[in-house]
This record gives sequence, structure tokens and C-alpha cells, in this order.
Amino acid sequence: MSANWSPTSWRTKKVEQAPVYPDRDRLADVETRLRKYPPLVFAGEARNLTRALGEVAEGNAFLLQGGDCAESFAEFHADNIRDTFRVLLQMAVVLTFAAARPVVKVGRIGGQFAKPRSSGTEIQNGVELPSYRGDIINGMNFDAASRTPDPERMVHAYTQAAATVNLLRAFATGGYADLHNVHRWTLGFISGSPAGDRYRALADRISETLSFMEACGITPESTPQLRATDVYTSHEALLLGFEQALTRVDSTTGDWYDTSAHMLWIGDRTRQLDGAHVEFCRGVGNPLGMKCGPSIKSDDLLRLIDALNPANVPGRLTLIARFGADAVGEHLPRLIRAVEREGRKVIWSCDPMHGNTIKAGNGFKTRPFERIVKELQNFFAVHRAEGTHAGGVHFEMTGQNVTECTGGAMAITEGDLSSRYHTHCDPRLNANQALELAFLIAEGLKAERDISAKFRAAE
Ligand code: PEP
Ligand code: CO
Repeated sequence: MSANWSPTSWRTKKVEQAPVYPDRDRLADVETRLRKYPPLVFAGEARNLTRALGEVAEGNAFLLQGGDCAESFAEFHADNIRDTFRVLLQMAVVLTFAAARPVVKVGRIGGQFAKPRSSGTEIQNGVELPSYRGDIINGMNFDAASRTPDPERMVHAYTQAAATVNLLRAFATGGYADLHNVHRWTLGFISGSPAGDRYRALADRISETLSFMEACGITPESTPQLRATDVYTSHEALLLGFEQALTRVDSTTGDWYDTSAHMLWIGDRTRQLDGAHVEFCRGVGNPLGMKCGPSIKSDDLLRLIDALNPANVPGRLTLIARFGADAVGEHLPRLIRAVEREGRKVIWSCDPMHGNTIKAGNGFKTRPFERIVKELQNFFAVHRAEGTHAGGVHFEMTGQNVTECTGGAMAITEGDLSSRYHTHCDPRLNANQALELAFLIAEGLKAERDISAKFRAAE
């Protein structure tokens, strides 16, 4: 166990992004209730995820992490959960085939409710109110009652997360994730996409492989791995009172785990070395992520790695780079070199969303698809040049047919944004854009594979 750590030790540190609850007694009452609620995940599953991520850190697997920017109470529906899971599965099949390596699937789901904000308040028509911080804290409507942080929302979030995780587990093992199904959906996407021709060759090769396997007797009936899959949950560990309430001692190891999700990450605004979020996360056994934006200094990164992964366990820590398409080349090489020089085992994952947000002419927050692609390409190119493993990707996406990011094969324009713009926070890729990205990343992964094959042949 980490030295001088307890589930409450974060309370002695500075807490960035903390909501101000007007009624502290009610807050304490809710947190006490939550401490008695069943865990949402089991510590053994979090350890399995660390092990799977360890393979990613060693270059033998790939991480796919994705889901909502902010889950909302209003959009809680089985169809939304199903559709997000479906796209994640489709992306994973394409990536598995291209990388010829396992793909570890982690949803931004089942607890992704709390949002960091650039300003604590928002002004509309001269009226100033607390900013919306996600449904687990307050409501999005611009009125004083909605914007006042309400502790009961934590109970609502817990319940929604429990139902979400339950459905995901059922889908993952109950037959929905059958490889043949998943590939059939992808063929449907190809035939309906204006860019289908570009992706058809890869899809056809997957079809041929499945037919060959079937001819050899490797079918979902004979091979349970083709029928079921592992899926893990993750969210930003932002609202620490909630996270603390779900932090329990694992009876099998005696270690502390945050049982609100398998993986937790620290956001770019809350990664202060002496801050509360780093303090909380360093003591839990779950695999951790940490967002790295342009302001991170190489020395600070090394100190943060020391704090979060002192034993240098591969898979414990994923660094999620989110620099913006044009800044990757400036920042990523210096950070990779510092990490390599110190022999630190980390996963490098690319979040091409948060550094590429712009305001469209009509006021909508959006992300141009081509900037997202560019950041991914630059991320892969830097890793190729440094000889390191581009370990994963991190997306804000939904299975719904929204119009929040511009571009992609369907060529969503700024004028289209208003037609189906449903996000509670940042603009997400829709199902087609997300799958299209998987095909584009597949090309990068195949290049990485070809290069390492060349090296092996030369050895
Ligand atoms: C997010 O992932 O939704 C987020 C707020 O990211 P970041 O901390 O990188 O800004
Ligand atoms: Co976001």
C-alpha cells in the first residue's frame, strides 16, 4: 500500500474543480449512504485490466478507449448503451485484424458524469450562475435551482452506472458481441458509406478469415472466445467524494480499489503533483490514466509517474496525449524521450479530441474530422520516429447518428451541426465517423507491424 495514504488523505490537499455544495450535512449524509452501496466492479477485474494493459505497455496489444464526453440522466436508455458498445466492438475488430494483436476495450461509460470546466461560473444576459459540471453534480438548464450542486445526484449517478454496467456485462457475454455479428454490422457500414471503397479491401480480408476459420471448425459454437468478450469501464476521477465513497479494501489482497470503475483517469486540469486528484489516485490499485496537454513539463511528468506508478508496473499507467493536431510534434517527442531515458513503463495513448475543439461560425463547439485524423497521424509518426509503441486511442464518441463533429465521409458541415447536436459537453464522433477512424488507424497499425517485422527479419 502507498505510504501515508488513506482514502481520505486527498482532503488535506488543494482540490481543483470542486463544486460548492450549499448544504454540507446533506453531502456528508449522501457520501455515508454511498459507502454502504455494493461496488460497481470487482477488484479482481481491475487487476485483469492492469494485466491486459501490461501487454499494451510492452507493445503486444492495443488500447481502445471511448464513449461519451459526459453521460447524462436524460439520455439514459438501453439503445444508447447498446449502440455505443456496438461501435466500440466494431472498431475493436477492425483494429485487432490490422494490428494482429489483442485490443483492450475500455468504455468511457458507466460513471463518466463529472466535468472539469474552464470557468467556475457562466454569464448569460447579465446573469451569473455556477457552471454546469455534469449530471452527477448539477443540471444543465440555466437557472439557479438547476445549477446549484445537489448531492442526491450522486445516488442517481450511482444507480444509472450500476444499470449501465449490468447491461454491458450482459451484452459482452450473452451473445451480442459474437464476432460474426459484429463483422456483419461493419459490412453494412461499408456498403452505406461514401468512403466504403477505401475500406472494403480490409473488410473483405476479415470476411475471408472468418470463413477460413469456420471451415477449420473454429466457430462461435466451438470457440466461446468468438461469442463473448471483455469490456471494461472508465471515467475521470474528478468528484473525489463520490470516488472515496466507492473505495473499498479488496478482501482477497487487502489493497484499496476504487470500485466505481475498472480504470480511472486524471484530467489535464487536475494533475497537480501536490493536488488532491493525484493524491487520491496514487493509493488505489486500479489502472490509471493521466491526460497530458501542452502545458506539461517533462520533469513534472517524471515526478507524476513516480507518484502514480512508483513500482513501474507495466499497465498501471496510461499517458493520454491530447495536444492538438499541430502541437503533437512539438511536445510528444520530448515527453517520450524523458520517459524512455528513465526506463519508465507507460502506455502512450492518443486523445485526438480535446486539443482540436473549435467554435464554428454559428457558435457550435465542434471538432473537424480532418484535425482528429491529423493528430492521430502525427501521434503514430512520432512513435515510429522514436521507435516506441503507439499504444492506444481515446475517443469521445457515441453510437447515435449525431452531428457534432464536422467532416468525415458523410461530410457534415457547420450548417448541419444544429440538426442533431445532443452532447451535454464536448462534440462526439458519431457511429460512422468513429468506425471510419478505426479503418484509418488500421492503416497506421499495419505500418507499425510491417516495420517491426522488418526489424525482426534483420535481427
Ligand atoms: C475529457 O476527457 O472529457 C476532458 C475533460 O479531457 P481533458 O482533461 O484532457 O481536458
Ligand atoms: Co470532453
